[in-house]
Amino acid sequence: MKHGRLGFFKLKYLTLMAAAAVLLVACGIVEAKNLREPASLERLASSIRERKAHMLGYPVNHDIQLGDFYRWYIDSGVYSAMVNNAGDPFHSEEDYPNTLDFEREVIEFFGPLYGFDKDNLWGIVTFSGTDGNDHGIYFGSKYLEKKTQQKPIVYVSDAAHYSNMRLADLQNLELRLVPADVHGCMIPEELEKVLVPGRPALMVYAMGTTFKGGVDNQEALNAVLEKHSPIAVYRHVDAALFGGYLPYTKYRDAVNRRVQPFDSIAISGHKFFGMDEPAGFFLTTKEVMENQNPYQVTYLNGSMPMINCSRSAAAPLKLWWLIHHVGEKGFVEQAEQILENAVWLKAKLDAKGWPAWLEQPLSNTVYFKRPPREVVAKYALAPDYDERLGGDLSHIVVMQHITRETLQGFIDDLPAAK
Ligand SMILES: Cc1ncc(COP(=O)(O)O)c(C=O)c1O
Repeated sequence: MKHGRLGFFKLKYLTLMAAAAVLLVACGIVEAKNLREPASLERLASSIRERKAHMLGYPVNHDIQLGDFYRWYIDSGVYSAMVNNAGDPFHSEEDYPNTLDFEREVIEFFGPLYGFDKDNLWGIVTFSGTDGNDHGIYFGSKYLEKKTQQKPIVYVSDAAHYSNMRLADLQNLELRLVPADVHGCMIPEELEKVLVPGRPALMVYAMGTTFKGGVDNQEALNAVLEKHSPIAVYRHVDAALFGGYLPYTKYRDAVNRRVQPFDSIAISGHKFFGMDEPAGFFLTTKEVMENQNPYQVTYLNGSMPMINCSRSAAAPLKLWWLIHHVGEKGFVEQAEQILENAVWLKAKLDAKGWPAWLEQPLSNTVYFKRPPREVVAKYALAPDYDERLGGDLSHIVVMQHITRETLQGFIDDLPAAK
């Protein structure tokens, strides 16, 4: 008993000391000794400015057009308030500072581009592509459980983004990894081998795999599902990168749920759309949303179906700004530019005799035999390996900031092909 009281006082003392230390640092009374000096910020800025033009290996748009947004953000004083989108953008009655109405407008703007009817649409602006897939897998599994009283099996190709495997693991769902072909597409015959008809199927379709830009053939895979008819099917599409630009091309049907009957789709905001921080959006139907585990949260005036409580209020505002500022014409031009430049790069590599592949016509990702180390480092090229294509590979994801001049510089840096 005595020891128990002593332990309590010790704990109380330590907690008080820790709180005092945090306060002192926050007030600048004690210097934060482990932090680098403020001048290092300028070094960081110049390194970012210098490097971005040569960033060829990752699927992000470095041509950010948010300068005016930030000027408004400062001038309006919004920067000095804590604004938080805790809540459902489709049921927003919250009286704290938020941008939920703008978030709903962003979702209602994008929904029809992917074939959702405005009156059968629900969605949120997410923290990232991974967050969108998290919602797709979570909503899919709860929907299927509601319908069948059974947990589904998740089917995803082994070329799909690892977030899907990680999230199935995180959500404690059984996962069947389906082998992909040399182009990065799930093989329908392999799906047939692992499909369990007695269990609901949660399909994660890749609309542009991260490395090769492989697109799962949904028609062929749906035919397998039809043939073996699992007791229920939910289709989530991971369209992190391709889902951004395809609606602005003549290939828009590839991400249109009236043509490809999917239940939800996740798209990144910082890949095609030019967000300056990780973000994205998740779209699904009202029917899916209404078949979730409802958690009635009194202080938020409603049922909270999404995974996170606090969510960014700035990200929906930036997306809303980009929709206004870049506009449909701008997105169409950008989509055209990246697809044309990808074809141009592939032709240049062919002419040089450097083994290269491009999954035409939907992809902006050219993958090729991995160049020497110094070229990989100069252009920040990501590595991959595929025995079927001769081993070491790299890729260039042709985004808006990548000019033909930069691509020509890369070609010139390659050694002569043997
Ligand atoms: C196909 C695909 N899905 C999901 C992700 C994960 O997106 P994020 O990095 O926004 O979480 C990526 C990232 O590159 C991706 O390429």
